[in-house]
Amino acid sequence: MPTVLIADDLSPAGIQALKAAGLTVDDRTGIKAAELREVLQTVDGIIIRSRTTLTPELLKDQKRLKVIVRAGVGVDNIDLPAATREGIVVMNTPAGNTTSTAEHTVAMMMSLARNIAPASASMKAGKWDRKSFTGTQLAGKTLGVVGLGRIGISVAKRAIGLEMKVVGYDPFLSPAKAAELGIEVYRNVDDVVTQCDFLTVHTPMTDETRGLINADRMAKMKKGVRIINCARGGIVDEADLAAALQSGQVGGAAIDVFVNEPPGDLPLLKAPNLLTTPHLGASTDEAQELVALEAAEIISGFLMRGEIRHAVNIAPISAAEMSELKSSLDLARRLGLLLAQQSKGRAVRSANLSFRGEAATKNTKLLTSAFAAGLLESAFDESVNIVNAEMLARERGVRVTESASSETSDFSTLIKATVETDQGEVTASGTIFGKQFLRLVRIGNFGLDAYLDGLMLIYRHRDVPGLIGYIGTVFGKHKVNIAHMAVGRHEPGGDAVAILNLDSNPPAEALEEVQKHPDVTGIELVKLPAAGAALPWAVSPR
Ligand code: NAD
Ligand code: MLT
Repeated sequence: MPTVLIADDLSPAGIQALKAAGLTVDDRTGIKAAELREVLQTVDGIIIRSRTTLTPELLKDQKRLKVIVRAGVGVDNIDLPAATREGIVVMNTPAGNTTSTAEHTVAMMMSLARNIAPASASMKAGKWDRKSFTGTQLAGKTLGVVGLGRIGISVAKRAIGLEMKVVGYDPFLSPAKAAELGIEVYRNVDDVVTQCDFLTVHTPMTDETRGLINADRMAKMKKGVRIINCARGGIVDEADLAAALQSGQVGGAAIDVFVNEPPGDLPLLKAPNLLTTPHLGASTDEAQELVALEAAEIISGFLMRGEIRHAVNIAPISAAEMSELKSSLDLARRLGLLLAQQSKGRAVRSANLSFRGEAATKNTKLLTSAFAAGLLESAFDESVNIVNAEMLARERGVRVTESASSETSDFSTLIKATVETDQGEVTASGTIFGKQFLRLVRIGNFGLDAYLDGLMLIYRHRDVPGLIGYIGTVFGKHKVNIAHMAVGRHEPGGDAVAILNLDSNPPAEALEEVQKHPDVTGIELVKLPAAGAALPWAVSPR
């Protein structure tokens, strides 16, 4: 039974759902970083929130760990390249806390506008001060939204309900969709920030968004603008914001998130007109229950059914699609394993996959990754799978490309793989007979029909009478049974290739005898998994 580690606070509904799905739960909420590396070696998956940080050191050589689920949106506390390199799928629960975070943003904006926090503090200090806290009305004001994804749009809709004008910037929101939502979109951040009375950011934290709202941009804004950050600490530069609040250029700010959490003795916390909460955007009973249930659902879907949902480092795939794709994945991986052995001793420069017919209509990206995994599998100490194969190839300067055409050739489905090496190309094509019978139908420029499994003796020769009998006799003498044989040739008497599927490993003497024959021009023994063997990757359906 797969085991899931709970590292951070997770709503009990999520734990129950994990157990109900048949998973073993190792609940170590609040586990210290020092213990985590060892515990990770004993689990198949981990669920975290924002408290736990998964560093490259923690993730390195975790042989059992297959999946990380972030119960929440931001995956900035997970080293994604490290997880991908280790072949670990990373997923998040993007939608569960959208509404709560949008509501928190609106609550922050309203509290800022009406000085709710300082007015309340003043009364609690025994005062009745009705002059110092005069606020501003939201209706008729302009709200700038930078980042119009789930939360940004949700905030925009609420602001429109409050009779605000909403302007925004998001490189991926089409003007048509924005118009439908009633948002005026601009082509850059500067055009947004210069015209708003309130500005809220809802982007992820990336190299591009770190310090997106900085001193330069604050200087361009209307004097007295109010800024809200319920996304990620540092999108609004903390030091620049503190200075702008001091100078009055920014009239007020509401900050839920910090570069370091807890922020410690941060000067920004002492700036005037600052309203702040300790990362509470998603902290509602409803949001926590939703993200916990969603986390349980996607991790059990993955560990029990090979389903990939909301993954941030691999294309999504449903359990049904994964199961339907199994034979094609197997075929692509076997072509990779075959060509890896054929290009042994040469420097691989690039690889190309060409999908024809039915294969072209499938998830070719995943099939290409399966081929790359096969190609690299034997060359790497670390485990190679469809999550990390292309990255590992790229890191080594091997370009893996693909092309697809739904037009059929001689076969209703065909994958042709070509590997370019420093000593020329090796190429092979495979097809699927029925639902699951994998066949090698071309090797180099010879067409044939060979089983793509087990021990394959590939020998190149001149097509002369008596050679098959000779080889049969050699293997018979050495008690090696030939299960299947396929020959490819262009014309009688010319160059040919044959593939023998053998039931056992031939001794070196048998191979030497075959090689000695004057009409044999080359032999190689290729080892592939047995027919029907399960795929070795974490993401294969169980
Ligand atoms: P999302 O992926 O749906 O939306 C993010 C949007 O930002 C996307 O539309 C993207 O195109 C846009 N974007 C990316 N780079 C941009 C740039 N340079 N300029 C403008 N737009 C850019 O994510 P979401 O669910 O809406 O979450 C938004 C943010 O809120 C994330 O940082 C997330 O981690 C954070 N979050 C915080 C809390 C909290 O408790 N405070 C809760 C949930 C989410
Ligand atoms: C998120 O990214 O989902 C939020 O920051 C909330 C959380 O910490 O879980």
